[in-house]
Amino acid sequence: MIFDSAPKFRLAFASLVLACVSGAAQAQAQAPSAAPLKVGVMLPFTGTYAPLGVAIENGFKLYVQQQGGRLGGRTIDYVRLDDESDPSKASENASRLVKRDHVDVLLGTVHSGVAMAMAKVAKDTNTLLIVPNAGADNVTGPLCAPNIFRTSFSNWQPAYAMGKVVASKGAKRVVTLTWKYAAGEESVRGFKEAFEAAGGKVVDELTVPFPNVEFQAQLTQIAAAKPDAVYVFFAGAGAVKFVKDYAAAGLKDKIPLYGAGFLTDGTLEAQGDAAQGLLTTLHYADGLTSARDQGFRLDYAKTYKLQPDVYAVQGYDAAQLLGAGLVAVKGDMTQRDAMVRAMEQAKIDSPRGPFVMSKAHNPVQDIYLRQVNGHENRVVLVAAKGLADPARGCRMN
Ligand code: BEZ
Repeated sequence: MIFDSAPKFRLAFASLVLACVSGAAQAQAQAPSAAPLKVGVMLPFTGTYAPLGVAIENGFKLYVQQQGGRLGGRTIDYVRLDDESDPSKASENASRLVKRDHVDVLLGTVHSGVAMAMAKVAKDTNTLLIVPNAGADNVTGPLCAPNIFRTSFSNWQPAYAMGKVVASKGAKRVVTLTWKYAAGEESVRGFKEAFEAAGGKVVDELTVPFPNVEFQAQLTQIAAAKPDAVYVFFAGAGAVKFVKDYAAAGLKDKIPLYGAGFLTDGTLEAQGDAAQGLLTTLHYADGLTSARDQGFRLDYAKTYKLQPDVYAVQGYDAAQLLGAGLVAVKGDMTQRDAMVRAMEQAKIDSPRGPFVMSKAHNPVQDIYLRQVNGHENRVVLVAAKGLADPARGCRMN
């Protein structure tokens, strides 16, 4: 027995040594800069904004895939959470990603109210946050921080550009309509700022609760007020319903309808004839002729069998921005200051056109005037060149 067990013991010992050695090797490979990077993807995957969340996630993953699955040498692990566009659950959801799942980066979200809660959690825990849609002015205003970046827009940006456009069309009296929450209210405020500075007057500000899609009462009020034009903020499934209802109410040919471009982005197949000819302003458009945009659209269509929209672009650019930071520190996120500096200085080669970050970490970008033609938001002209959000209340510490 003794003689029998000796070789077995030697074998077991040898395996133990081997296991220790390979354990050490693995530990080396898993050193902070080489272990997978955990990205907490907090987006809406149900509800009126679900298609927007999916497009953002697709765009983000497309860029990572184009880099061979690594950013700054790190592979990416995704921790996915459906935020349901529900601000009442947002703090708890974001905290769970940070404290329970230990994500390295938070990516989210679409809804401004949810994003503001995420920004507070990111600030309190010093977690890097990249906002790939929500335009809440506060995120790059009073809530601005070195660890918070946005790759989309502020609610003020497309709205302000549209205020000037509508004034230039000779409209004097405008009625606005939006969901009653931060995004819509800030969009209307941005529109009004530019429109009234140019001599127009917003004569009524109508709202419906988010995410209601019952617009009959407001359409009746608009018909009675007979304004020169209507400006709205709606997106996703709500935008589809509103554009169809506006046309069905017989208003489309009587009172010109304008909106921030979310009204017609990613929605045109469902809106059909009701959307034809509508003018909107946004930081992306169909018909941009750059090789960068054409390459992106081709890859996106091949990968997902879908046409990209503005949300896909914003997700793609969120990955580009994160990549710029990670490359600068060779994937070592403990070098946070150097990483943030690289992200601040990055020139993002976006399908929308190149952009840089403002001091408040919001894109400084061109805003296009687009017109619906078939299933496209065709670029008409650049309504505002290199437009920077005023970042009111931002004190970067
Ligand atoms: C927002 O809540 O900020 C938002 C949602 C959808 C489209 C654009 C903005």
